Amino acid sequence: MSFQTLPKVELHTHLEGCAPPAFIRGLAAEKKIDISGIFADDGGYAFRDFDHFLQVYEAACTTLQSPEDFRRLTMAVLEETAAHGVVYMETFVSPDFCGGGDLAAWKDYLAAMEDAAQEAEDKLGITLKGIVTGIRHFGPEACKPAAKCAAETFGDFITGYGMAGGEMVGRPADYAYSFDMAREAGIPLTCHAGEWGGATMVAETIRDLKVARIGHGIGAVDDPALIDEILEKDIVLEVCPGSNVVLKAVNGWNSHPIAKLRDAGVKVTVSTDDPPFFHTTMTAEYAMLHQTFGWEEEEFAMLNKTALAAAFCDDATKARVAKRLE
Ligand code: HPA
Ligand code: ZN
Repeated sequence: MSFQTLPKVELHTHLEGCAPPAFIRGLAAEKKIDISGIFADDGGYAFRDFDHFLQVYEAACTTLQSPEDFRRLTMAVLEETAAHGVVYMETFVSPDFCGGGDLAAWKDYLAAMEDAAQEAEDKLGITLKGIVTGIRHFGPEACKPAAKCAAETFGDFITGYGMAGGEMVGRPADYAYSFDMAREAGIPLTCHAGEWGGATMVAETIRDLKVARIGHGIGAVDDPALIDEILEKDIVLEVCPGSNVVLKAVNGWNSHPIAKLRDAGVKVTVSTDDPPFFHTTMTAEYAMLHQTFGWEEEEFAMLNKTALAAAFCDDATKARVAKRLE
C-alpha cells in the first residue's frame, strides 16, 4: 500500500495554516514586512507552545493582504495537498486574519479562493470547500461578523461555519449567538473543542452550539457518558493526530486517543490541521497511524468513507468524490 497515493478526504485544515513557509517569506519580502522572528533556522515556522503557535500564525497572516495573495495561496496549498492523494478537502478561513476586518472586501478574497479552487479542480482533480471561521480567543463579539459572512456567502463553495482558536471551559454558550445565526441560515456547523479543554469543553460545545462535527474532540475519550452522547447524536470528530503530538496536546503517538475513540464506535476522521506548522502531511499521518496502531487499507477506507459522509458539500459533489475513493 502506498500511503501517498491512497485517495483521501480531509475535513480539518486551516487555509492560512497550510501556507508553505517559503510562500509566506516571499510575500513578506515583497511587502517589506519584517516577520523574520517567526521562522526557524531551517526555514520552517518556529513556536514554543500552543499560545505562541497562535501568535506566529497571526503574524504569518499579516502577509496575506489581497485577493491575489489568496488566489496564489489557495493554488500553492492545493498543489501540495493533491500531491498527497487528497481528493476532497475542507478548509477553515477567517475574516479576522486577513482583509482588514472589512467584510465586503473579504468577500473578494473568498471569490479569489473559489477561482483558484476551480482551477485546481480542473488541473489536479482535488475539490476544495471553505468553512468561514470565527476566532474564539478574539471573543464572542468578534465572531459575529464571521457568522454573518458565512450566512451571506453560504452556497456551493462556502459550505460551513466553524470556530477555531484558544479554548475556554465554561464559555461555549457565549458564542451561541453566532452559531444560532449560522444554523438559522441552514449552514452546517463545526467547532474546535477538546483539543485542550478536555471532555467538559466537548460536552459544553455540543450542548450550547449544537454542532454536527467537533474539531479535535480528543478530550472526549475520558468521559464514557459523553462518548455515548456523541454516538447517539452521530457527531463526527475531525482528529488531527500529528498536530496534537507537535503541540503536546498528547504525550506522543502511542498515547493518542484516536484508536480508543474509534474502538468505542465514535466516527473519527483524520486531518493535518496546519501541515507545514506541524511538519506533517496526509501521507505522514497515515504512515504514523499504520506504524502506531497497525491500521491498514480497511481502516483508512473507513476513515475516508466517514469523512465524505460528514463533509459539508452537496450530494452531487459527494457522489463524484465517492467514485474517486473506489
Ligand atoms: N486549534 C485551534 N486553533 C487553531 C488551530 C488549532 O489546532 N489551528 C489553527 N488555528
Ligand atoms: Zn484546527
